[in-house]
Amino acid sequence: MSDGGRLGVTKARTIAKACRAVLLTADPREKTMAARAAARAWRSGRIAHDFDAVMPDRPLRPEKPELLPPNRMPKRGRAGSERARIAMLHALAHIEYVAIDLAFDCAGRFGAAMPRDFVDDWIGVGADEAMHFALLDRRLRAMGSFYGAHPAHDGLWETAEKTRDDLTARLALVPMALEARGLDVTPPTVARFEAAGDSASARILTRIYNDEIRHVAAGTRWFESWCEAAGRIPAETWQRLIAQHFRGVVKPPFNDSARHAAGLTLDYYGTLAATAGAGHTH
Ligand SMILES: [Fe+2]
Ligand SMILES: [Fe+2]
Repeated sequence: MSDGGRLGVTKARTIAKACRAVLLTADPREKTMAARAAARAWRSGRIAHDFDAVMPDRPLRPEKPELLPPNRMPKRGRAGSERARIAMLHALAHIEYVAIDLAFDCAGRFGAAMPRDFVDDWIGVGADEAMHFALLDRRLRAMGSFYGAHPAHDGLWETAEKTRDDLTARLALVPMALEARGLDVTPPTVARFEAAGDSASARILTRIYNDEIRHVAAGTRWFESWCEAAGRIPAETWQRLIAQHFRGVVKPPFNDSARHAAGLTLDYYGTLAATAGAGHTH
């Protein structure tokens, strides 16, 4: 496979080919470096705002980690134990690994129909995700593990496949649902790491959390500008897309202050909170 890796990025003359090269890089460290190289090339103006390559429907994946359906993932061990913390960091590293692909796919697949600063935003997100992955992988190594040492759950890419022809659905599901969910669950996770005396991991998660607020904000901003151009009401449109496509959970507790900082106001998800409250209790 000659299109991928840092070499593929170096050879690319257009943003589409650079994005494609990142998606066709399986090796985690090589992908991280390819992503950063693509971001540098884009920012320096070395590659053109041209879309002369298609994005692969499935990015390449390394041999390790083994990908399992979510219900076959092993138990994480006693909360706060080192084993459980490593399992959690490994799961988060996998999310960041896939997030690199999600960002470059968004730029390369949908950028042609969008203004230049749309590409700026998603390439910036992709560079952040590469940094997040690198920080988590380094932390895992400091703890005697590494990305690939455990199975990871397959299924994150499903959301990309379902929304490969529809930018509004992609934005509704990825930054505005999956990444927004990350904002809800990260502060309690940071608290658990702190309680276990693992402030090195807690610091990394806090850094990621602050970046993710910006990712949700970028998604919401582009979603709203699309809705405005199409004469649609953003909150209603988002709720319809979530009902249609989303198999994950949009349920409380919500991190209202982080969501609001990202522009994801209560009119988007407030009714979902009410419905969830009236429904199941587990
Ligand atoms: Fe991230
Ligand atoms: Fe993100």
